[in-house]
This record gives sequence, C-alpha cells and structure tokens, in this order.
Amino acid sequence: MKSFSSSFCFLSTLMAFISLFILSLILLPSALSTDGRETFIIHVAKSAKPHIFSTHHHWYSSIVRSVDTPHHPSKILYTYNRAVQGFSARLTVDQAAKIRHVRGVLSVIPDRPRYLHTTRTPRFLGLEDSFGLWPNSDYADDVIVGVLDTGIWPERQSFSDEGLSPVPGKWKGSCVVTPDFPATACNKKIIGARAFYLGYAASRGTTMEESNESKSPRDTEGHGTHTASTAAGSRVTNASLFGYAKGEARGMAIKARIAVYKICWASGCYDSDILAAMDQAIEDGVDVISLSVGADGYAPPYDYDSIAIGAFGAAEHGIVVSCSAGNSGPDPYTAVNIAPWILTVGASTLDREFPADVILGDGRIYSGVSLYSGEELSDELLPLVYAADCGSKYCYSGSLDSAKVAGKIVICDRGGNARVEKGNAVHVAGGAGMIMANLADSGEELLADSHFIPATMVGQIAGDKIRAYARSDPLPTATIKFRGTVISRSPAAPRVASFSSRGPNYRTAEILKPDVIAPGVNILAGWTGYIGPTDLETDKRKVDFNIISGTSMSCPHVSGLAALLRKAHPKWSPAAIKSALMTTAYNLDNCGSNITDLATGKESTPFVHGSGHVDPNRALDPGLVYDLGLSDYLGFLCSIGYDSRRISVFTTASVDCDANSLGAPGNLNYPSFSVVFHGENSVVKYKRVVKNVGKKSNPVYEVKVNAPPNVEVSVSPSKLVFSEETDSLAYEVTFMSGVGVEEVGSCPKASFGSIEWTDGVHLVRSPIAASWNLSSTASM
Ligand SMILES: *[C@@H]1O[C@H](CO)[C@@H](O)[C@H](O)[C@H]1NC(C)=O
Ligand SMILES: *[C@@H]1O[C@H](CO)[C@@H](O)[C@H](O)[C@H]1NC(C)=O
Ligand SMILES: *[C@@H]1O[C@H](CO)[C@@H](O)[C@H](O)[C@H]1NC(C)=O
Ligand SMILES: *[C@@H]1O[C@H](CO)[C@@H](O)[C@H](O)[C@H]1NC(C)=O
Repeated sequence: MKSFSSSFCFLSTLMAFISLFILSLILLPSALSTDGRETFIIHVAKSAKPHIFSTHHHWYSSIVRSVDTPHHPSKILYTYNRAVQGFSARLTVDQAAKIRHVRGVLSVIPDRPRYLHTTRTPRFLGLEDSFGLWPNSDYADDVIVGVLDTGIWPERQSFSDEGLSPVPGKWKGSCVVTPDFPATACNKKIIGARAFYLGYAASRGTTMEESNESKSPRDTEGHGTHTASTAAGSRVTNASLFGYAKGEARGMAIKARIAVYKICWASGCYDSDILAAMDQAIEDGVDVISLSVGADGYAPPYDYDSIAIGAFGAAEHGIVVSCSAGNSGPDPYTAVNIAPWILTVGASTLDREFPADVILGDGRIYSGVSLYSGEELSDELLPLVYAADCGSKYCYSGSLDSAKVAGKIVICDRGGNARVEKGNAVHVAGGAGMIMANLADSGEELLADSHFIPATMVGQIAGDKIRAYARSDPLPTATIKFRGTVISRSPAAPRVASFSSRGPNYRTAEILKPDVIAPGVNILAGWTGYIGPTDLETDKRKVDFNIISGTSMSCPHVSGLAALLRKAHPKWSPAAIKSALMTTAYNLDNCGSNITDLATGKESTPFVHGSGHVDPNRALDPGLVYDLGLSDYLGFLCSIGYDSRRISVFTTASVDCDANSLGAPGNLNYPSFSVVFHGENSVVKYKRVVKNVGKKSNPVYEVKVNAPPNVEVSVSPSKLVFSEETDSLAYEVTFMSGVGVEEVGSCPKASFGSIEWTDGVHLVRSPIAASWNLSSTASM
C-alpha cells in the first residue's frame, strides 16, 4: 500500500484492485444499512437438514423465521449449493448470534466488500500460430472461461464470434436480457452473462435504480471488458489507444468462450454476490474462473475468505481458479488470494514502452513514459516548477496556485491521488504540462497514462534530479518529447512491478505465493463505451481499447493460458495445469539476467515472482507434474489446525484429520518450496510426488539442487526411474539450516535456491525460499 502514498494509504489500498489506473471517487461502502441489519453468509452442513423440510431453501427460510421479530422480518438474498452450502440473509447482529447456535449451522460470516485489483502480450509470451500451445490447443476452442468482474461491453470487436463453432453442448448457462443488454449482446463468443447485485444493493440500503446503476451485465467501468478480452478476446486487427500499441490484438485463448458474471458495482464487489456467481459458474459448466478481485489489506483466514471458500468448491468441480495477487506491493506479506488451490498471479512488464522524454534547459534528458495523444509541446523550453512550491506536491485538484503554475511545466510527486487527476489539476490551474515523478516507494516503476495535457512519468532517480534542478537553477526550463511506441530490450523485460503484491504468505508461510508472474503493466485490451480511458467523469473521450496496469491484468493472461492447457490436456486436474505453468516458468529476462524487481532495481526473489514468468509453450509439455486433489487439500487444512467443523465450510466431503493429516503444511504436494526454520529446529523435511506426463516412455529424471545460501539441501532419491507401471514417484527433501543465519538478508531473513529435475528433454524447476523465524529463537 505504501507504493501509492502514505497519507492516503487506506483509500489507495481499497482502490488498488480496481486497477492501478483508476482512482475515481467512490463512497466507502458499509454492509450496515439504516435499518440496523447487515448481510451475513451462513455456512451449513448440508446433511444436517431435518427431514421435515423438503428442500434446503425451506430449511433456510425456517432458520431465518425462527429468529424473526415483528419489526425485523428477515430476508434471504441467495441460497448456495455448489461452491458452498448455505445462504446469505439480512439480519441484525442479535439474529446472527442466534443463528450461530442453530443445529447444522457451521459459521455465520458478515458480508464484506472486495475490490478489483493486448497487442504485444501473445508475442512476448512466445505464442505463435505455427507451433507450441496455440496450435496444440486449437486456441482453446470450446473451453469456457468464467470472468467474474465489472461486466462486459459486448459490442467490442474483441467479442466477435466470427468463425467460431456453435456454443459447446455442455454449456448450461444463459444470458439475461435487459433494456441495455439486448439478446444480441450474446453470441458464440459471449455465451453467458448474468449480474449479481443483491448483496451489494442490500449493503447500500438503496435500490439499484436510485443509484442509477444498471442491473445488467453491461460494463460501465471498463475493467471487466479489459480482463475478458485479455483472457479470451477474438483477433482484432488495427487495435490501438490513440495510435499507441498499434497492432493486432488477441486474447490468450481466441476460440475460448466467455461467460460473464458481473459481481462488481460502483462501490465494491460483495462476498455474497461473489459466492452466488461462483455457485452459478459451477452449475453453468465453466472450465476456468478468472477473478481479478480480492481483499484489501492482508489475506483473511481461509475460512473467512469467500474467494478461498468458493474457489475450493470450484476446484472440487475440476475448475481452474486464477486470481490476481493484489496491487499492494512492494511491502512483504501483501499477497492475497493465497489459498493453495488458487493460482495466484503477480504482475510484470513487457518489452514494450511508450517513451516520452523530459528535456531540461541545461541539456540533460531523462526518459519517461506517456500515452498522451493531444497536440505536442513546441520545441521551445517552458518554465519548470515543482508543485511542492506551488501548494501541493501531489497536485491535488484545486490546491495549486495558478499564479505560480500558469504556462509552466509542473513536477508532481506520484502518490496521494489518481495519476491522471494530477494532470487535470495542473491543466485547471493553467499549467502547460506535467512531469509526474516517483518517490522511493515506487522506485523506477513507470506506468503509462492517457493524460489530458502533455505529461510524462519518470522514475525516482530522474525525478530527484529534475526536482533538484527546478529548485536550484535560477531559471529552470523543460519540455517533453513524445516518442510513440517502442519495442526493445532496453530496458530489459520482464521486470516485476513495484505494485505487485508479495509474499511471504501471510497465512501459511510454508506455501510460496504468488505462484507466477505474467504481463500486467501497460496492457492494451478492450474498454467500455460508457466512460473515457481515464475513468474520470471529466474525460469525454471514448475508446475501443485502453492501456492499463495491475495484477488485475496479469490474472486474465494466466486464465487464458489455463484455458489453452485445459483443451490441450483435457484429463489434467486444475492442480496439474497449475503445476505445468509453475515448473516451466522462467527466471531470466530478455537480456539473460535474473529478473529484477522494479521496487529495488535488484534481483527479484521467489517471494516476489513465485516460480517465475509463465512460459506457455513449455507448459504444454512439462514432463512431470505435482498433482493434488481433494484429499490433499483436506490434509492441508488439517495440518494448519482446522477441525472438521471448520473444514465443513469448504466441502461436503467428510474428513478425519487423525487419518488424513500431512503432518506439516509444507508436505502439501506443491510445485514450489517454502521452508521456515523455527528456533532450534534447524532441519525441515518435505515430501513430494511427481507424475510423469511426458510422451517419452520410461524416462529417468535426475535432480540438480541449487541450495539457498546457508542451507544444505539433500534430495532422496536423487534419481527417479519411471516405467509403464509406475507413472508417479515420491521423493523427500531435507533442508538443513547452516550457521551464521543472522547475517542472511533483511526482513524477513531469507535465502533462495531451486530444485530441478531433468530427463535431458524436460526441465522441471521448483524454487526454494528458505526463511528463518528469528522471533521464535530465544537465544538470538
Ligand atoms: C440518476 O440519474 C438522474 C437522471 O439522469 C439524475 O437526475 C440523478 O441525479 C441521478 N442520481 C444519481 C444518484 O446519480
Ligand atoms: C486503424 O485505426 C486508426 C485509428 O483508430 C484509423 O485512423 C485507421 O484508419 C485504421 N486503419 C485501418 C487500415 O483500418
Ligand atoms: C541468477 O541467480 C542465481 C541464484 O541467485 C545465481 O546462481 C545465478 O548465477 C544468477 N544468474 C545470472 C545470469 O545472473
Ligand atoms: C514465528 O514464531 C513465532 C513464535 O513461535 C510465531 O508466533 C510466529 O507466527 C512465527 N512467524 C512465522 C512467519 O512463522
């Protein structure tokens, strides 16, 4: 959260998921309306239904009636029976407390709002028509991607169904028809579209009509159109934003079908609506769920995290659930959507830049980025001022002194308010241009924006020099040169975005998160026709495509890749698909160096990039996979101390933790390793099982260990011999902490390495993050 500002930390965290780009004014929502009732989600044990009730709905109605008072007739909003078992209802706190004691009720959780967290990307990812994952998956023909987001603008060319085969027979969903969402909105590309707003509307105590929000799946925000077209948009030639990033735009899975579930409204995405959408998506028959939404702040406990609970149900139904990690970097422990059955995606850069250089009066030139498309500045240098000397270093609207900024180029610090709002504030005060300069917390991370006035964004190093020049030179001057779209190896790509949320895993340190990184900076994809590219009310421009940034943008890239893998390998489990994406991910940038972190300028670590950057063509043929199923996840929940009652919130399957514990959560058959040394305990052992999915018969895999500094790693056995009869083999890793640990790294004390299995053809790589919990060491 620090990456945005310190003073506006709360607001910016809230907004982070709406995408980094947008910071329009939003009323802080509260689930408590004026009548003193809140929405609660009630999880029940399905089997506890008394026989006198013919349906679960009858049972739930009776539960609610039993706590009714004459003045407080309660109302059920949704009943759930696939993603979870139970219902949501409007209740007073007293009524909720009473329901907790009803037989068969497992938990009663207050409804919470969650927040929303491309031409070049297929090429950058190595996707080609002639070889690899695209032709081998038939572009995910017939695979269905459920996009839970702000809805869709169906008229965009990205959603054309030209050339697509009929709607897959397995599809059971439908499209709602409303005055602003006609039957023609759906076709063979958009095969389902529904809207879930009961929890949202109830929480606001107003009707949708009063707030002027359409109850349809139509996207009035842009985010959902962007994510849907990234995951599964059709091919569009000549796509661009004001000529920037011009080229052919394609989703990752151009033949996959899109099922739209609108869950996010003007002031948030409510758990009760998210669960209803997941329930529906499972019923409808989607193959992949793409969810660029998450909690603000630290990840909630799994059994209070509706996304984690719903994703568990989806995974049980064979659905891959791919989620954004959040935009709260670069602080540690910020990643959300971190349950082990979720595919958690961080954000990184492409090799495409939109350079806009700052030229100072003394001849120095600093590179920045911009999507400004209006009239250019003349070559003549203009006077330069630092906004901190003109009323507001962040350039808040209405707080700049016109007398000091009129006709000048104004340096505004990043943070505090929306980036595009700063340019607008400078414009209103009569300024001629803007240089937005990073502070330490965003480092060298550059995000391109479609500013109203000639404006560019520079990193902290350049920013400090420009600020110093503006304050020390007697007559400081500058201009900005816009250089369009440039694809090159300088700077190197990918680099991890500073905003990308990071590990260590806040809930279970033994599971490494995020899982992978994917493109999430300056991504071109479809946009709503309702509002301009900056999402500001004052922005009257309308665009078919927009360029925005966030882990919200990286998630649908990976959702689309999962759809391609689902088609290429119909029998693989969601965990196998995830394993393939993780063990084949790469860690070197396009200059051959280890991937760097834009927050520090130094090498990134597995706490930042997980297993690395997705490599779709290699994921097609990973050699080995780390598979996982229901009993593994139940064992995991047992291993972190959940009893059968807490576990019943996730599944109707019965569980006996005495018989089914992994021992330690680190024994979950995960494709990466996170080892935590506690106090005196300097030896940790993890078990794994790998399954051969390669085409080669009877392969022999040998291990190569890159031990993290200060850790001894041994793998037993070090050779895995597969045969016709044995397609799965187990191994054990022993991690031994060395001495001198207090010298390792900074907070948290950590070091990194990897384990690689190879048969000469495949390379199956798992990162190792070792950390020392020194607070549990009495002697240190
Ligand atoms: C809703 O729209 C009507 C008509 O356009 C307008 O008068 C009213 O102020 C709007 N209400 C809100 C809450 O925006
Ligand atoms: C491509 O798009 C631009 C801007 O949208 C438009 O001006 C131009 O005519 C288009 N070119 C073609 C060949 O369609
Ligand atoms: C990347 O990092 C690893 C581990 O820190 C190191 O062994 C390797 O030499 C580095 N590679 C390059 C190309 O710098
Ligand atoms: C470190 O150990 C302390 C004391 O045992 C414990 O409370 C804390 O949760 C541990 N932290 C991590 C990250 O495991």
